[in-house]
Amino acid sequence: DWSMSAYRAEMQKKIREQVGTGRVICGLSGGVDSAVAAVLIHEAIGDQLTCVFVDHGLMRLGEAEQVVTLFRDHYNIPLVHVDAEELFLSELAKCGSDPEAKRKTIGRLFIDVFDAEAAKLGGADFLAQGTLYPDVIESVSFSGGPSVTIKSHHNVGGLPERMKMKLVEPLRELFKDEVRVLGRELGLPEAFVGRHPFPGPGLAIRCPGEITKEKLDILRKADAIYLDEIRKAGLYDVIWQAFAVLLPVRTVGVMGDYRTYDHVCALRAVTSVDGMTADFYPFDMNFLGRAATRIINEVKGINRVVYDVTSKPPGTIEWE
Ligand code: XMP
Repeated sequence: DWSMSAYRAEMQKKIREQVGTGRVICGLSGGVDSAVAAVLIHEAIGDQLTCVFVDHGLMRLGEAEQVVTLFRDHYNIPLVHVDAEELFLSELAKCGSDPEAKRKTIGRLFIDVFDAEAAKLGGADFLAQGTLYPDVIESVSFSGGPSVTIKSHHNVGGLPERMKMKLVEPLRELFKDEVRVLGRELGLPEAFVGRHPFPGPGLAIRCPGEITKEKLDILRKADAIYLDEIRKAGLYDVIWQAFAVLLPVRTVGVMGDYRTYDHVCALRAVTSVDGMTADFYPFDMNFLGRAATRIINEVKGINRVVYDVTSKPPGTIEWE
């Protein structure tokens, strides 16, 4: 792609100009955006970059391992893997059910953990982030209306003064589809580049209500089965984003001779161009039945599955 190879060269020039001989820390979230930003920056300034992967324990099944393998073994990019699950879960336990409290807590902890890692690394001058254009505008206003924040995106909004790190945000002008093109241009594996977007706050915003490790483990299993069925049906690339949500509601069911009283799992799948608007995906009912049966049979703790048929607007893609 000619325009993307030009963009790549231009951004690398800009990164070098901005950064000089400074040190850069890049937070990896496990998603495509931060990965593309990191690889782009590494190509521009080499080992002046250190990546920090704050593992908040809110990743999907097997995802943390994949990130570490890709960056350390494949790209040889200096990577610090911080296992912060306990810290995040204990602070999230104090948030109760409030979605904004969860997001703000996660955002604050990310910054705290970064701060600590930066200090351990002997300080850094810049913090790199994979902020995209839709993140920038959606944090500022909504549909041209008054300037209100619909959801606080943890990766937008600058840093506390005390960190004294300047931001490097090479993807700020790009939409998601353009980031994917750039990722391919940079040689990221197709399985990684083609991945559905994943929000910084991770599974915390797909687990309405109070967050516990037990619920997250149930959600991870259901989500993995759902995505497995989507891949088997050849639908993964047609869908913008698909995921399971574990509802804080229990309902009665029956399994064999037993009455069950377990969680409801909602399935979400949407098509979209940039995440700003979205349509729910019109699965065929046989597909949904198959996914539901597998989830209920294979995941202890779920006995009912529903499908979300809300588009955006009026819904958002995530449930919180
Ligand atoms: P919503 O739910 O606002 O999501 O319709 C639009 C897109 O943004 C993703 N999303 C986030 N990404 N940090 C992120 O990095 C966040 O806090 C966040 N919240 C939502 C969401 O997954 C969807 O792709």
